[in-house]
Amino acid sequence: MNLKSVNLKNKRVWLRVDFNVPVDSQGLISDDTRIMSALPTIKYLLKKGAKQIILATHFGRPKGQIIDDLRVGFIAKYLEKILKETIWQSKEVAPKEIPNSAKIAMLENVRFDPGEEKNDEKLAKAWAKLADIYVNDAFGCSHRAHASIVGIAKLLPSYAGLLLQREIEVLTEVLDHPQKPLTLIIGGAKIDTKIGVLKEFIHKADNILVGGGIANTFLFAQGFDIGKSLYQEDKLETAQEIMLSAEVYKDKFVIPSDAVVASEMNDKALTLNLPVEDVEGDMKILDIGKTTLMKYLYVINKSAMIIWNGPLGLFECECFAKGTKKIAEALAIAKGKVIIGGGETIDALKRFKIDEKKFYHVSTGGGAMLEFLEGRELPGVKALAG
Ligand code: 3PG
Repeated sequence: MNLKSVNLKNKRVWLRVDFNVPVDSQGLISDDTRIMSALPTIKYLLKKGAKQIILATHFGRPKGQIIDDLRVGFIAKYLEKILKETIWQSKEVAPKEIPNSAKIAMLENVRFDPGEEKNDEKLAKAWAKLADIYVNDAFGCSHRAHASIVGIAKLLPSYAGLLLQREIEVLTEVLDHPQKPLTLIIGGAKIDTKIGVLKEFIHKADNILVGGGIANTFLFAQGFDIGKSLYQEDKLETAQEIMLSAEVYKDKFVIPSDAVVASEMNDKALTLNLPVEDVEGDMKILDIGKTTLMKYLYVINKSAMIIWNGPLGLFECECFAKGTKKIAEALAIAKGKVIIGGGETIDALKRFKIDEKKFYHVSTGGGAMLEFLEGRELPGVKALAG
């Protein structure tokens, strides 16, 4: 499974990367973290004499259709500039052959082929024919049992890339040797993908600090009037279950006691900081309040390991950004080991100009990180184990 144990000389390597990068309104890459994170593996393969690297990624969710806006050529061009190497671009997802002269090739968006998400064996075989070995460096999609993640891994000698390896090492450390006190900070709009990790960490973590839209669902489930705040009605029972199982652990599970509210969600909104019991009418909870923030900062300061996934408020608006910003800044100088994941959380770091190097680990996976921390075996990681 370890790439460093393989003789790569003259090998054709099929490399699954996660270049599902965010783009701005002009279609330009707004955050290249995922591309930069795969560079060590690409450079390692080149240095060790690989004959050809065949890069494969998905971009967006085309659901088996060819969508021009989701072609990956612009990502190949971006990478060409960084690597200062020409990249041969395939017009097809699974070309019959790739010219020998191409040192680096890039396939078209693998999700254009309906076989990708179905883990189709025919598609996996067509890919396997092109290469001698398979390397998965796409941690961000390793929770998907797709043909480029699982199918092809069964057909070729398969290894974890350097990024995947590092992600697994760090997250395994969290699961197997967490440093105590261990704190989980969970935010974001929706609870759906976070239920598993919350249930798991109720027993594992010493503190769980909740913010964002998720906190509203918990507040509503506790019987608070949350005015016109965003919450998930269909998850109230789940929220109650989670709070019930946390009851045996005194003070472990913390939801906001005060909040920044407004009736509008824009930068000119009139805001109030209120105890949560005073929220009513057309008020919307859009950030954690001052008292909650102080409490969360106090817990962060005492923690030896902290995992953060999801913003604590509507950080895109200046007047609701304070909770997320102050938490991010505190984590950047925290004594404990800080592990951060999730697209929106990383967007928040960028917005506040906080250098990712300040943290022990910034995961390239959102859903994949959460599923790993739930204790689930990721299909892409399992496939590498044979
Ligand atoms: C991500 O952006 O989290 C990964 O690239 C996986 O994408 P997906 O959620 O569309 O499978």
